Amino acid sequence: MPDNPLPSPIDSSTANPWRRQRVFVLGATGTIGRATVLALLERGHEVVCLVRPHAAGKPSQSQPRPLPAGAIVRIGDASDPASIANDGFQGEAFDALVSCLASRTGASDDAWAIDYAAHCGALEAARGAGVSHFVLLSAICVQKPLLAFQHAKLAFEKRLIESGLTYSIVRPTAFFKSLSGQLDRLRRGKPFLIFGDGTLTACKPISDGDLAAFLADCLSDPARHNRVMPIGGPGEAITPLQQGEHLFALLGLPPRFKRVPLAVLDAIIGFLGVAGRIVPWFGRYAELARIGRYYATESMLVLNAQTGRYDAASTPSTGSDTLFDYYGELVRESKLAERGDHAVF
Ligand SMILES: NC(=O)c1ccc[n+]([C@@H]2O[C@H](COP(=O)([O-])OP(=O)(O)OC[C@H]3O[C@@H](n4cnc5c(N)ncnc54)[C@H](OP(=O)(O)O)[C@@H]3O)[C@@H](O)[C@H]2O)c1
Repeated sequence: MPDNPLPSPIDSSTANPWRRQRVFVLGATGTIGRATVLALLERGHEVVCLVRPHAAGKPSQSQPRPLPAGAIVRIGDASDPASIANDGFQGEAFDALVSCLASRTGASDDAWAIDYAAHCGALEAARGAGVSHFVLLSAICVQKPLLAFQHAKLAFEKRLIESGLTYSIVRPTAFFKSLSGQLDRLRRGKPFLIFGDGTLTACKPISDGDLAAFLADCLSDPARHNRVMPIGGPGEAITPLQQGEHLFALLGLPPRFKRVPLAVLDAIIGFLGVAGRIVPWFGRYAELARIGRYYATESMLVLNAQTGRYDAASTPSTGSDTLFDYYGELVRESKLAERGDHAVF
């Protein structure tokens, strides 16, 4: 039996942006993908997700969590345009494609294969399915591209903008999961690691739910059409030093910080870079170390092109969830942040 009836063709000239839409989702099994599927369903949309076989409960290394009830799950390969068309769209019409697909490692080959090439394939398949609106989860850091995955994301953003489809490109600041990794260290009595004095960078952290709501509302809000949108969470920008101080206070422990000189990262990058010319495996780790250095030195805020400085005041905010409330929840409930399989970002 088909998992849903064939929809009637979409007449975009009379389309009401607030209507129920048929939405095709890529990357639905990721942190933001899951939250976005839920947000789309809550808004009454029909949601069809293309997922890899292991995510649908077939044998895998890790036990996947099911997608929110109500989502239609189809099995296929997002890196293969024919699979997106045949296994995903299945000859049906859709209004929109929402992509939270992203390379899990950020390594150069993976990034170009997923963040760029898979998205290019999805764009072409989407045209064939009558999709008129493409919502893309990107990252604020592409405004200063120094890393392979940032170049791959930017290359697809350009391709999407030039495609003629309505686009909404969302470039969020740091996610809560990426700012919670040290909680376990602190519980074990270890110091909070900072680069420099812990104030080299700052960000306006955004929760999964607030970002998902922002992505889902791109479908119905014409003000978010054909825009590239940096977006952060509520409140002031927060430095790593403030994150550490807050965690220690919540744990009732005296603050202890260990300063890691940037020169240590530079030495690791240098060594792995040279070794990578002989053994490609090392080159992959050199890129991961470069990613680490980037986040240790660059703020996840809007970069002012005139001054060359990061600017918290011009970084838009959305939502109501705060990182410190999230920390409070983790500490109260003795939980760790769900970091998924994404070890780097
Ligand atoms: N972390 C941060 O602080 C931060 C801040 C701003 C922006 N971002 C951006 O947000 C995105 C990451 O979001 P996230 O944390 O939600 O990602 P995530 O949890 O790692 O999810 C990635 C999704 O992409 C899918 N995927 C990856 N490789 C695939 C492949 N080869 N074939 C098919 N599917 C594949 C995954 O499917 P499987 O479940 O099958 O692996 C999963 O659904 C990235 O673009 C990142 O740059 C992150």
